[in-house]
Amino acid sequence: MLDEGDDPRLPHRRVPNCPVPLAHLHELGVLTWKLDLEATSLLEQIRSERGYLYSEVLTLCRESTQDFDAKVQGFFKEHTHSQEEVRFILDGSGYWDIRDFDGKWIRFAVGKGDMIVLPAGMSHRFTLDAKNYIKASQSESRK
Ligand code: LAC
Ligand code: NI
Repeated sequence: MLDEGDDPRLPHRRVPNCPVPLAHLHELGVLTWKLDLEATSLLEQIRSERGYLYSEVLTLCRESTQDFDAKVQGFFKEHTHSQEEVRFILDGSGYWDIRDFDGKWIRFAVGKGDMIVLPAGMSHRFTLDAKNYIKASQSESRK
């Protein structure tokens, strides 16, 4: 991504664009699935196979979320977790930024039905896009 400009919610595409194949995210260790929200059996299978415990729904919405700006800014600070970050997008959209092998930021967009797992210890940040809305289920991971 082009890591310049003020508003993180804009796409920050390179000019010319420099698309990253999904396989490259997988090489970096990110797991991805595209799930049908109505058909939950695959989700249950992933949860049980990977040992995800429970999930809670997090909604970020400019109109209804308390401390919206502070929360959004917090997620955009580069950080890591000692466990996997497991997110299933139920509605809305946003961007995760992760670092490529050479340290440059890669931005990938998520929307309804996307499930992603960032490996433990992976440096990342998250931002909403210009629609300012996401609803995601987050699981606790033992890994
Ligand atoms: C988190 C994401 C948004 O830590 O990075 O919840
Ligand atoms: Ni995180």
